[in-house]
Amino acid sequence: MSLIDRLVRNENPTNYIKEYEELAKQYNPVDLGLGYPDYLPAKFITEALSEVLSSECVDDHQYTNPQGHPRLRNALSKMFSHHLNINVDPEQEMLVTAGSSEALFCAVMGLIAPGDEVIVIEPCFMVFVSLIKMAGGVPKYVSLELEENFKDSQSFAEWKLDRKKIEQIFTVKTKAIIMNTPHNPTGKVFDMDELTFIADLCKKWNVICIADEVYERMVFKPKTHIRIASLPGMFERTVTLGAAEKSFGVTGWQIGWAYGHPLLLQALRVLHQHVVFNASTPLQIAFAKMFEEEYDKLGQTTSYFEETEKDLREKRDYLVGVLSKIEMKPILPQGGMFILADITQMLPHVDLSSEKEKFIDLKFVKWLTKQHRLQTFPVTIFCSENNKKSYENLIRFCFVKKQSTLEEAAEILKNL
Ligand SMILES: Cc1ncc(COP(=O)(O)O)c(C=O)c1O
Repeated sequence: MSLIDRLVRNENPTNYIKEYEELAKQYNPVDLGLGYPDYLPAKFITEALSEVLSSECVDDHQYTNPQGHPRLRNALSKMFSHHLNINVDPEQEMLVTAGSSEALFCAVMGLIAPGDEVIVIEPCFMVFVSLIKMAGGVPKYVSLELEENFKDSQSFAEWKLDRKKIEQIFTVKTKAIIMNTPHNPTGKVFDMDELTFIADLCKKWNVICIADEVYERMVFKPKTHIRIASLPGMFERTVTLGAAEKSFGVTGWQIGWAYGHPLLLQALRVLHQHVVFNASTPLQIAFAKMFEEEYDKLGQTTSYFEETEKDLREKRDYLVGVLSKIEMKPILPQGGMFILADITQMLPHVDLSSEKEKFIDLKFVKWLTKQHRLQTFPVTIFCSENNKKSYENLIRFCFVKKQSTLEEAAEILKNL
């Protein structure tokens, strides 16, 4: 069976994106749907690339080592050796890819064999599921559940993993788990206790961890990002994926990476060399420069990563404030670029009868785009068929947008 035949077409998330783009063309809405900034990148970012593009060094414009340009591999290895407190070898343990999507593709295709079970935490970035199916693997779902908590006499909802359920899903057939933290779409950042629990299960059942940490630079204080590969006994069984373009807010630049034990990385390296050969050389050099500079500024107020955290935290808080005042209940994200909001209270006051979709969120999102020119994203797109019903009253907002865009959206939301 061909790879594409293995991909169950009606669960292919790209189908929805196409429809979404068509709606956007037709209604020209304020866009808080897809996850990318609607503003220009910082000057030092575009200057770094311009500098490479006008370089008179011939090699800066030609093929480079398929594993990644040495300067970028060195910069990334230095950065992650620091974060993990483990020496990451740029020669054996670091691979540069064409975006983290390619790293993900190579990880799943390279490590999963037909019949292998792979655990995913739902709702999830559905490309995980498509790839598992393409590899002939079997996705096993465990869902995040909303728990109401009280703190400082205020009620707030938090995403929790049911430990009994996750314990039961690990078996001798389990080959891997995909751990996405910060998590898309919920914005959950897994804490040490949760990661240790999962790490212990990986060790007990000899399971590989594919750690998707593409939103690692978007973790809002006081929360901190914990890399599962840094936990005892985990580096050797974890492939960690990251994204330079997400880290610097230039999603179109598509340079990602994977790091991990050489035995695991070897599978990705071979695939990568056959699919892409090498990711764009000038982009790699530009990112190398940025990571070198960031390394020297880590933790300082002048660091771009620090500035981004502050800026995005302010945007998040603004939109959470707006949503809290209307009949939508936002679930405060600890990381990432999205806020989920519960629309249950609003439903009795809106007429969705013109929309023929199966799930409430799909109807609501279309209604909002067509009737009020505000585009958001449905959460059932991130769920397997059997689980969609549990999440259909949630919609997703992207807050990595200009303040003026957020204000335009706020105006629409206040007048719903
Ligand atoms: C969780 C997650 N992983 C991976 C990706 C792929 O990112 P990219 O290919 O832009 O690096 C995305 C994109 O939105 C994502 O949300």
